[in-house]
Amino acid sequence: TIEAVIFDLDGVITDTAEYHYIAWKQLGQELGIPFDKEFNEQLKGISRMQSLERILQLGGQDQSYSQAEKADFARRKNEHYVSLLDSLTPEHTYPGIRELLLELRSAGIPAVIASASKNAPQILRALGLESLFQYVVHPDSVAHGKPAPDLFLRGAVEVGAEASRCIGIEDAQAGIQAIKAAGMIAIGIGEENVLKPAGADVVMKDTGGVNLSFLEETLQAFGC
Ligand code: BG6
Ligand code: MG
Repeated sequence: TIEAVIFDLDGVITDTAEYHYIAWKQLGQELGIPFDKEFNEQLKGISRMQSLERILQLGGQDQSYSQAEKADFARRKNEHYVSLLDSLTPEHTYPGIRELLLELRSAGIPAVIASASKNAPQILRALGLESLFQYVVHPDSVAHGKPAPDLFLRGAVEVGAEASRCIGIEDAQAGIQAIKAAGMIAIGIGEENVLKPAGADVVMKDTGGVNLSFLEETLQAFGC
């Protein structure tokens, strides 16, 4: 049986991965570093400052700014991003997610958030989902971000679950790698050709079909 389901947030619970993309793209344009969705895949799942470093590297500008300037770029991106969050309502929750969380609650299976985002609590509040998660891992509470397993392992420990009996759900390559490094079953949400190479056990185009019986079948098929 499943002991916990550990969810990424951005791009799994709601479409905030797109908001991150819009806000980084705007900053990139201001710095003269244009990039596309394919490059953006690398920014998913990693922290704000790491994302900024990747963008600056792409533009060959990683040595061009002081720490204070970089902090200011990250602050500007976050202000833009947070302004986009203003429009979030419970209707922006991805298909099937609320239903899945209710099924998990009825079955007594803990649901956990393991996100790299410092904005996670605000997003869960805006979606009206806070009470359906047993635990939200704070990204600053672990030594290493994704693709390291720390966030997922912390989530499992906090709810007393055995890693091999946990299912992780992710839309990012770094996140799938983190779930597999934690020894959990990884369900990818997105493109097969992006998430399979990262190690996803199963990839779904969207969250619509991800219900409890699907999760149980997946554990049966890929668990040990
Ligand atoms: C992750 C996103 O969930 O959170 C990344 O996939 C983002 O794109 C990271 O950079 C950090 O988010 P925030 O909200 O703390 O800037
Ligand atoms: Mg994500």
